[in-house]
Amino acid sequence: MEYITSKIIENIEVSKGIYSMKLKHKKGIKPGQFYMLKGEKSFLGRPISVCEVDNDVVRFLYAVVGKGTNEFSNLKEGENIKIIGPLGNGFSLEQDYGKVALVGGGIGVAPMLELAKALNKEKKSKIDFYGGFRDEVYLVNEIEAYVDKAIVSTNTGKVGYKGFITEPLLENIKNYDTVLCCGPEVMMKKVVEICKENNVNVYVSMEKHMACGVGACLVCTCKTKEGNKRTCKDGPVFNGLDVEF
Ligand SMILES: Cc1cc2nc3c(=O)[nH]c(=O)nc-3n(C[C@H](O)[C@H](O)[C@H](O)COP(=O)(O)OP(=O)(O)OC[C@H]3O[C@@H](n4cnc5c(N)ncnc54)[C@H](O)[C@@H]3O)c2cc1C
Ligand code: FES
Repeated sequence: MEYITSKIIENIEVSKGIYSMKLKHKKGIKPGQFYMLKGEKSFLGRPISVCEVDNDVVRFLYAVVGKGTNEFSNLKEGENIKIIGPLGNGFSLEQDYGKVALVGGGIGVAPMLELAKALNKEKKSKIDFYGGFRDEVYLVNEIEAYVDKAIVSTNTGKVGYKGFITEPLLENIKNYDTVLCCGPEVMMKKVVEICKENNVNVYVSMEKHMACGVGACLVCTCKTKEGNKRTCKDGPVFNGLDVEF
């Protein structure tokens, strides 16, 4: 698969070090899928989740953490970026999840907006959102429009519950049949433990380093009960009970 050039429609800082980028897209994107985005200065692309789809526009939310994402943050409206996507399996929308808790940690909240929108459209059952942040809270006000209840935690106590989001989740876990989760690996490991102990289904979107993004290089290996899987091609969404953290 080759990178194609896409024109940036919008690229704005929405919170400290957190940017929202919009590009034109093709149809048929599933929540939880991602794109490889690449600036002129980088040899390799960086995987970034689809945050929202609106008609023919796809939006990404990214945190500036290193060289690649810093280059993205300097791109202006009207400039070009190289893209491949949508990639990966995404969250299944065919499955009846029952009562759902969406759990996002930090920039892991990014795919939760499009997921909340898609689940809300089908609206078979209750959907709650749990968002855990260090200090600054972002995207929650947009997700709130599509869920029954949004619970927020910050490590500093600046907004919502003071502590980790896994604490209110544990308190309420008996209210849910399924948890859909994206965030730091240590958080997802804890979420899977909570779900396992309480017989709740759990699906996680794994964040591994990637090089090709299309299944060819094996950089993104994720250990599962069924052996090593490629996060980019076989995931990034896996049944949490199958992942060996
Ligand atoms: C499927 C998938 C979807 C993702 N979606 C998003 C998203 O929507 N928004 C977003 O901001 N980020 C997302 N990421 C993470 C993003 O790809 C990395 O932050 C980015 O590649 C870092 O590139 P860099 O050159 O800026 O930083 P680097 O210089 O490469 O790294 C800076 C720091 O980030 C860490 N890091 C790099 N890549 C990853 C990674 N894949 N997972 C965890 N830590 C990493 C490094 O260890 C280092 O500490 C996603 C990752 C995957 C695998
Ligand atoms: S990033 Fe190359 S196989 Fe997944």
